[in-house]
Amino acid sequence: MSAATPTAPEGAYAAVHTASLADRNGFWLKAAAAIDWDVAPTRAFDAEQGVYGRWFPDARLNVCRNAVDRHAEGGRADQAAIIHDSPVTGTKRRITYGELRDEVAVLAGILADLGVTKGDRVVIYMPMVPEALFGMLACARIGAIHSVVFGGFAANELAARIEDAAPKVVLAASCGIEPARVVAYKPLLDAAIARSTHKPDACLILQRPQGEAGLVEGRDRDWAETVARARRAGRRAEPVPVAATDPLYILYTSGTTGRPKGVVRDSGGYCVALAWSMANLYGVAPGEVYFCASDIGWVVGHSYIVYAPLLHGCTTVLYEGKPVGTPDAGAFWRVVAEHGGATLFTAPTALRAIKKEDPRAEKIAGHDLSRFRALFLAGERADPDSVAWAERALDRPVIDHWWQTETGWAIAGNPLGLERLPVKYGSTAKPMPGYDLHVLDESGKPVPPGTMGTIALKLPLPPGCLPTLWGSDERFRQSYLATFPGFYDTSDAGVVDEDGYVTVLGRTDDIINVAGHRLSTGGMEAVLAAHPDVAECAVIGIRDALKGEAPCGFVVLKAGVAKDPETVERELVARVREEIGPVAAFKLALTVGRLPKTRSGKILRGTMKRIADGEDYAMPPTIEDPATLEEIGDSLKARGIGG
Ligand code: COA
Ligand code: AMP
Repeated sequence: MSAATPTAPEGAYAAVHTASLADRNGFWLKAAAAIDWDVAPTRAFDAEQGVYGRWFPDARLNVCRNAVDRHAEGGRADQAAIIHDSPVTGTKRRITYGELRDEVAVLAGILADLGVTKGDRVVIYMPMVPEALFGMLACARIGAIHSVVFGGFAANELAARIEDAAPKVVLAASCGIEPARVVAYKPLLDAAIARSTHKPDACLILQRPQGEAGLVEGRDRDWAETVARARRAGRRAEPVPVAATDPLYILYTSGTTGRPKGVVRDSGGYCVALAWSMANLYGVAPGEVYFCASDIGWVVGHSYIVYAPLLHGCTTVLYEGKPVGTPDAGAFWRVVAEHGGATLFTAPTALRAIKKEDPRAEKIAGHDLSRFRALFLAGERADPDSVAWAERALDRPVIDHWWQTETGWAIAGNPLGLERLPVKYGSTAKPMPGYDLHVLDESGKPVPPGTMGTIALKLPLPPGCLPTLWGSDERFRQSYLATFPGFYDTSDAGVVDEDGYVTVLGRTDDIINVAGHRLSTGGMEAVLAAHPDVAECAVIGIRDALKGEAPCGFVVLKAGVAKDPETVERELVARVREEIGPVAAFKLALTVGRLPKTRSGKILRGTMKRIADGEDYAMPPTIEDPATLEEIGDSLKARGIGG
């Protein structure tokens, strides 16, 4: 290895994790020193507030001041805060902390003039452009709550989020750019607003030269013109201190029904947890370059493209491109080398895409990776083959860590900055501080080491994790706290071994993970079921060599449908794309005569999945008719799936 990973003495991790649970207040108050508070916390946790307690109940801060102003004023004014590297547009832009403060202050002033005040919501529907970050930080500056919606979602999904968050203003771009096409965002936004009963007062539209959009009179404003006018008028807004417990953002994620869950992130606890993680988990120092190749529409993007690197005074790389095809499988290595990245954070699916195109890792050659220390993976299970391939190719630690939108930062990982624990392939290493992790059986009893169960986190959750769901403490309780009283149910199955290493095996609910994107099969079933020719349906996630999982829908047509099944199948594929979005990657709908069910009418999705994945399966004793499973196998075989 050409650049040393900072290490601490053996046992450092264990001491830290033990201290974080034994003296919760002492541990997190000490970590809170990394943040500039308007009113410093005197207590870390208050068990009496909120659903299960709240972090830093008596403290006040401004997140934008911490992420931007204090660096601009503290000697980093000329350091790059953001490097926008966009192979899809052929542009690069470097924005210093000084410039970032200026951009954000002006935009915050514009939001304030549009009537946005503390606690108001702002939806952001934008691609990977710096203005999206300006928007997020401008909200934080005036205490408004942003809700970023991933660009790969269709109008319907955007409408559901607008309906729930009820934003005063929407920030959007005219288009996003995918390697093969320009995605017009504005028509999707218009359709979403038309569908939603809530209407925003105003939309600020960033016109991109690749595809300009028509503006709706009275509602839409041109971003560049509005900013220019505000600058001429000297309009700026200064940071507004908020309670540490005030929401910073809402991020919607797939739930077990079609209705997305609005994960709420608070302000103070989030900053403290992220600051801790930058130094201790990622081993990155202020001033270094941090490259997270996710998307700002996902939690990883919120935390590690935007907030954590900026809170820590790093330079964040905002990469508008793909791991392959923009232009080739060397893209990530080019970015790391060109900008001097200390770490890279991506999803295993991206690594598999790179490995597939460049199996001998020849594209690494010629790139100066001397400042690069480690590769971090998250979002889905990291397959040992890909981890081993990357270790060999890069000669650096490859660290898998486990996350959820709900937690905001890693639940388990290998804290490189604290102590580099030995890597065990397939495992996400050990719980991070504050996570009191247990594996429980169905009755809520702990299982012995090495035994599979549901991973549950003993309450309270550490700072940074969700305190509730937007507008619904009750849904939060029902979704996460009801199954195992006193615990947060992760809905992930897993194992902890004798050494305390955590292995995450997959979801216990209907959520599937497609190319690192979290999707609800229930949501897709709702779309299929709404087709007039469909009597019933089931969607399962089947193994996919590149994307980890891919959705596959089985449908039974209503009696008397005259259309040929292939036509209906094509219509169903188009409907899911139209209703949920291209990101669902729903490409396979198969008509069958009947769905396999138990005698009590439960669809045997688990067995269907085993057949599709080519695994052995036992005939469920409660099956109504074994021939239905054979039919599933035959229809998959006809498409070359299963075996
Ligand atoms: N806006 C609009 N459309 C988008 C989009 C966006 N921001 N992101 C993806 N899409 C579209 C794609 O164009 C594609 O559409 P298509 O069906 O017309 O081809 C579809 O959604 C699926 O996209 P994607 O998941 O990117 O699949 P892909 O086959 O194009 O690429 C990978 C495969 C592996 C390269 C890609 O999935 C990838 O980079 N994954 C990493 C994901 C990641 O970092 N996740 C982070 C979670 S921590
Ligand atoms: P999301 O909320 O989109 O971040 O998705 C969270 C889900 O992704 C988790 O509940 C896991 O099922 C899965 N996941 C995330 N990271 C990992 C990982 N490192 N290993 C296994 N599964 C993971």
